Amino acid sequence: MTRKLFVTTALPYANAPFHLGHIMEYIQADIWVRHQRMSGHEVNFVCADDAHGAPIMIAAEKAGITPQEFVGQIAAGRQQYLDGFHVKFDNWHSTDGAENHALSQDIYRKLKAAGFITSKTIEQFYDPVKNMFLPDRYIKGECPKCGAKDQYGDSCEVCSAVYAPTEVKNPYSVLTGATPVMKSSEHFFFKLSDEKCVEFLRGWALQDNRLQSEVANKCKEWLEGEGGLGDWDISRDAPYFGIEIPDQPGKYFYVWLDAPVGYLASLKNYFNKTGRDFDAFMADPSTEQIHFIGKDITYFHTLFWPAMLKFSGYKIPDHVYAHGFVTVSGEKMSKSRGTGISPLRYLDIGMNPEWLRYYFAAKLNAKVEDLDMNPDDFVARVNSDLIGKYINIASRAAGFITKRFDGVITTKWATNDDAFIQNLRAVSGDIQALYEAREYGKALRAVMEQADLVNAYVDANKPWELAKQAENNDKLQEVCSRLLEAFRILTVFLKPVLPHLATQVEAQLNIAPLQWDSVQTAMPDQHRINPYVHLMQRVDPLIFDQLFDAPVEASKPTPEKTVASSTEIHPLPSPPPEGAGEVSGAIESLAPEIKIDDFAKVDLRIAKIVNCEHVDGSDKLLRLTLDVGEGKTRNVFSGIKSAYQPEQLIGKFTVMVANLAPRKMKFGMSEGMVLAASAADEKTNPGLYILEAWPGAEPGMRVR
Ligand code: MSP
Ligand code: ZN
Repeated sequence: MTRKLFVTTALPYANAPFHLGHIMEYIQADIWVRHQRMSGHEVNFVCADDAHGAPIMIAAEKAGITPQEFVGQIAAGRQQYLDGFHVKFDNWHSTDGAENHALSQDIYRKLKAAGFITSKTIEQFYDPVKNMFLPDRYIKGECPKCGAKDQYGDSCEVCSAVYAPTEVKNPYSVLTGATPVMKSSEHFFFKLSDEKCVEFLRGWALQDNRLQSEVANKCKEWLEGEGGLGDWDISRDAPYFGIEIPDQPGKYFYVWLDAPVGYLASLKNYFNKTGRDFDAFMADPSTEQIHFIGKDITYFHTLFWPAMLKFSGYKIPDHVYAHGFVTVSGEKMSKSRGTGISPLRYLDIGMNPEWLRYYFAAKLNAKVEDLDMNPDDFVARVNSDLIGKYINIASRAAGFITKRFDGVITTKWATNDDAFIQNLRAVSGDIQALYEAREYGKALRAVMEQADLVNAYVDANKPWELAKQAENNDKLQEVCSRLLEAFRILTVFLKPVLPHLATQVEAQLNIAPLQWDSVQTAMPDQHRINPYVHLMQRVDPLIFDQLFDAPVEASKPTPEKTVASSTEIHPLPSPPPEGAGEVSGAIESLAPEIKIDDFAKVDLRIAKIVNCEHVDGSDKLLRLTLDVGEGKTRNVFSGIKSAYQPEQLIGKFTVMVANLAPRKMKFGMSEGMVLAASAADEKTNPGLYILEAWPGAEPGMRVR
C-alpha cells in the first residue's frame, strides 16, 4: 500500500545561519524521505524558519532593521546549504507567513471554545527604560546561592544552581542595565493540567510505538512526576515579534505556540502553491505525520504540541523521532570556542557533501545518542569503506567493459550465477527495513558486508589476469558484467544516502533512475554502458586543517627571500611619528591619536578568499580573489607571498579595506587591501600574519 507521509524537521530559529547540527538533522530526515520515495510512497517533506520571539526582535533592532527584514536576510541564505548537502525539502516557509497567522489563531480559538484556555495575572520583571517585560535570559545579577556576579536570571554557570529571576541579587536588565521592577500583567495559559489532557497524553505517548522508548519513558516521568504538568503560559506582552492573540490587543502568542504550527503552515503553503487540498490531506486517516527533532526540544513536541492539536480538533502526530547532538572531536560545538564547523566552509574548501552524508549515516541509529564528528574516523570510513569497498568495484570492472567490449555487457552470468547476485537481492528487504527503522549505521554495515563479498569475488576471479589472454575474453566480459550488476544493486542500497553519486552511476551505467524495486531487475543482455569516469575522490586528511580553524601557520621564509614587508599593497609599518617615544623591542610606536570619525572613514569588511594564486613575475605578491558579499568578486594583490602558499589561503575569511581607491599596478588593478600583522623590525621577525575572522563571520560584514 502506498503510504501518504507528511514529514518535517525542526524549524530553525531565523537568527543565524545553519550549523552542522542543523545539517545533520536534515540529512537524517532526507535519507529517510528519499528511502520512502524510492519505495514508491508519497512524501511531503517541509520545513520553515522559526521567525518569532524576543531574541530575534532584539537582534533586528540592534541591526537597525525590521524583524521581517532580519528574518528575510537569514531566509535568503538557506538554500545554498540545502542544495549543497543535497537536502531536498518540498517547501521552505516561515512562521511569519500568512498561513501560520491564520492557523495559530484558529487553533487558539478552538482551544478556547473547548475550555482549554485560562488567564491569570502574574508579576514579572519589567525593564522601565526599554518598557518591556524581560524574559529570564535578559535578566542578570548575582547568584543567590554562591554570589557569583553576572549570572543569568534562571541559573548560575558557576555553581549550577537553578532559581527564579526574583531571587537574583542586584538584578539588572541585559538590554539597558536598568534595575528591573516588578509589574503585573494578564497572561493566557493552556490547561495542560486538565485531567483530559493528561489522560490523552499518556495514551498518545505510550502507545503504538509512537516514540523511541527512552523518549516515551521521559514523557511518563513528566506526566507522572511530582505535581504533574503545570499549565503552560502561551502569551507575551507587546513589544513582541509574533502573532497577535485574537481579541486581546497588545498580547502575542509565545513563540513556542506558533512555531510547531509552522509545520502545518508550510505544508499548507506548499499545497496552495501546487493546487492541492490541504484540508482533505490532513483529514485523510491514512496520512502519517512525522516530526524529526533534536533531543533538546522533545518536551515541546511530545506534550504541548500533541495536546494543542488534539483539543483543537486537528490531526495528531503519528511519530516524533528525536536525535542526539553533534559533537566535534568529543566536544560540544561552540562558535565562541572555535569548535563549530561551518557547513559552508566545508563546501567551499571542496569537501564532498556526500562524504558527510555517508559519515553521518554510518554513525546514526534510532536512539537518542550524540554523534561525534571526528576527523580520523571520518577519513577511515569514507576512504576505507565508501571508496575502498564500494567505488572500487566500478573502477575495477567498468574499464574493461569500456576498453575491451565497447561498453557492452552480457547477462551470461545469470545462467552461471553462483548465488552471487541472488544473495544481493535477498538482503534488499533487510536493508530497506533498517532504513525504515532509522538504523542507518546498521544498514550501511549490511551494505558494506555485501561489498566485501563482491570484492572477494573480484580477488578470486582477477579480471586483470583474465585480461591478459584473449582466450579468456568471454570469461572477462562475464565477470565484469556480473560485477557491474552487483555495483548497480549496491547503488540502489546507497541511493538514499548518496543521491548525487547515484545519479552519476545511473548516467555511467546508462540506466533509468534507480528505485528500490530496481534491485530485482538486472540490466539486459547487450546493454551498453557509458565510458568510465572516476566517481569519487578520497578524503585528504590534511583538508581538516582548513575545516577547523587551525591558526594559519606562516611558513618560515628563508632570509634572502624575505620581503621587506611588501612595497605594493600590503600596509607598510608607518615610521614613528615625530616626537613619539621609541618603544623597546619589536613593537612599533603608536600612530598619532585619531577620533572615532577618522576610524569610521576606513570601511573594513569580512572578505572570503575564494581564490589565490602566484603572480607571474613577482616574488612578493599573491593575487587574491575576494568575495566581499557584493555579488561579484574583487581582485587584490597582496605582498604576502613570502609567508603563504596560495592553497593555504583559499577558503579563509579575512579582513580587507574595502573603500580604498583602486590602484593600477604592474600586474593589473588592485581593488582593496587585506590586513596582515608584521613586526617593526623585519630582521628579528620577518613573519607576516594575515588576519582571519572567527567562524560565523560572513563576506561583506563590516568590521568596526
Ligand atoms: N526553533 C526551535 C525549533 C522549533 S520546532 C517547531 C529550535 N531551533 S534551533 O535552531 O535551535 O534548533 C533546530 C534543530 O537543530 C533542533 O531540532 C535542535 O535540536 C537541532 N540542533 C541544534 N543543535 C544541535 C546539535 N549540536 N546537534 C544536532 N542537532 C542540533 O530549537
Ligand atoms: Zn552560583
